[in-house]
Amino acid sequence: MRAARFHEYGDPDVLVVEEAPEPHAGPGQVRVRVAATSVNPFDVKVRAGRLAAVVRVTFPVVPGSDATGVVDEVGEGVTGVSVGDTVFGLARGGAAELAVLTAWAAVPAAWSTEQAAAAGLVSATALAGLAVLGDLAGRTLLVEGAGGGVGSAAVEIAVARGATVVGTASEAGHAFVRSLGAVPVTYGHGLAERVAAVAPQGVDAAFDTAGSGSLADLVALVGDPSRVSTVASSDAAAHGVTMVQGGADAAAHLPAAAALGATGAYTPRVEAVYPLERIAQAHAHVAAGRTRGKVVVTL
Ligand SMILES: NC(=O)c1ccc[n+]([C@@H]2O[C@H](COP(=O)([O-])OP(=O)(O)OC[C@H]3O[C@@H](n4cnc5c(N)ncnc54)[C@H](OP(=O)(O)O)[C@@H]3O)[C@@H](O)[C@H]2O)c1
Repeated sequence: MRAARFHEYGDPDVLVVEEAPEPHAGPGQVRVRVAATSVNPFDVKVRAGRLAAVVRVTFPVVPGSDATGVVDEVGEGVTGVSVGDTVFGLARGGAAELAVLTAWAAVPAAWSTEQAAAAGLVSATALAGLAVLGDLAGRTLLVEGAGGGVGSAAVEIAVARGATVVGTASEAGHAFVRSLGAVPVTYGHGLAERVAAVAPQGVDAAFDTAGSGSLADLVALVGDPSRVSTVASSDAAAHGVTMVQGGADAAAHLPAAAALGATGAYTPRVEAVYPLERIAQAHAHVAAGRTRGKVVVTL
């Protein structure tokens, strides 16, 4: 099969498109004929070797932690999905013609292939991050990094659940964050004053997707670390904040994201689409850290 692979850690140009052995669905997994995958910061960090101490790899590596496609192999013990179903979800080696998914859901009719490719890891992560914050209806939520893949999903889902959402982004991202239904504010020094100006009622909960060293500010704004969650700050424990793993409960979160997608309450945001042959540019795009939603790679 055709796949993107890297044979050593390095810059995006270590990615090559070449022939690779086909994977097979193990117990509890399905295999899909991939239509599209997306690039997550996780993929960029693994390729660059920045996670070498915690994520063990065997070279050559096929990147891609999510994918959408048609199921062509169903692993032992899997129920509720059949060969021929179109699904999206968490992948191992999504940037290939065939990839194994470890968690999935049916693609809602409202989504394009590119939107389905964009939805897996970020929607599961957003739902996991929001889950620890309790009922958000009628509450005010602050999302750090509201323009990114996880942040944009979290904003839209929280708004759909009845929250008032304040989202941080650079000035260039304010229109995008507003389009998601949040009130944009600029991140960085002076955040508390800017948030107070747009949310005089106070902030009930905060979700950090930026990992920019702002947890102390978020805890001070909310007044209780148990109502602050993060997917990106390694100093969470020092602040009493819950560190959430994006894959946690993905088997439940992905169908929930699809259900929100079916009603129009959550629409995965796609900033750019690259063909597989240009996956190195897609990685460079995400590495620049200025995304508005997701960067997708089509097979
Ligand atoms: N724990 C897990 O399982 C898990 C799962 C998924 C993701 N993550 C992590 O979560 C983080 C976000 O992932 P993502 O996919 O959403 O990334 P992304 O799409 O690349 O988002 C980057 C966003 O961060 C914003 N940003 C940059 N500096 C910021 C700052 N100082 N304050 C606030 N926002 C800032 C950027 O906004 P501007 O352009 O406006 O600056 C951009 O929109 C990454 O670190 C990723 O590794 C963790």
